[in-house]
Amino acid sequence: MLITIPAVLAATELQAFRDALATVDWSDGRGSAGYLSQQVKRNRQLPDEHPLARRLGEQVLRALQGSDLFTAAALPAKILPPLFNCYGPGETYGRHVDGAIRPVSGTPHRVRSDLSATLFLSDPASYDGGELEIDDTFGRRQVKLAAGDLLLYPGSSVHQVLPVTRGERLASFFWIQSLVRDDHKRTLLFQLDSAIQRVSAEAGAASAAGPATELAGIYHNLLRLWAEL
Ligand code: NI
Repeated sequence: MLITIPAVLAATELQAFRDALATVDWSDGRGSAGYLSQQVKRNRQLPDEHPLARRLGEQVLRALQGSDLFTAAALPAKILPPLFNCYGPGETYGRHVDGAIRPVSGTPHRVRSDLSATLFLSDPASYDGGELEIDDTFGRRQVKLAAGDLLLYPGSSVHQVLPVTRGERLASFFWIQSLVRDDHKRTLLFQLDSAIQRVSAEAGAASAAGPATELAGIYHNLLRLWAEL
């Protein structure tokens, strides 16, 4: 399932991100791609260990910690430090799959990429093209979100970034190992959680002893069955 997390970054933070990224020396994105992906990848990227990537990445992670929607949708166990990329006119990243196991740069740790995340940093009116196109279970979907919004999609999806034809597309991207690796199970839990929130809001104070509590019990028991720590 594709899930949008709106307004992860506020307008002032976004401007600070864009100002900082405007002054940076980008590297060729092919440096971090596997053999097949290198053939179709034409973009620029900040190296994993770049101090600006570290600083802005930590800011993204702090913003996500405050998002109940992100937590409910991703059920994160581990998150790779966010990276940053840039596509100008003619740049693109053709159809590819992300590697399943990602090393955490500078550490012995690895993260399984159950979910991929793209945080859009540029105003969509400021560039043409650059849609993120994902093969979803319901067909092929093209996504171009407002600056500050984040898209979560299954790490197993074939996807591409269509060529930018005008302007500049800045984004942050990263991977998440979820407590629940199976996308179908994670989606069921997210839908159940969302329904419980609605039932609970409608029932108000009476919900503590009512069906919302029983449903919350089912949610946690399913999570207990399916979660891997
Ligand atoms: Ni990718």
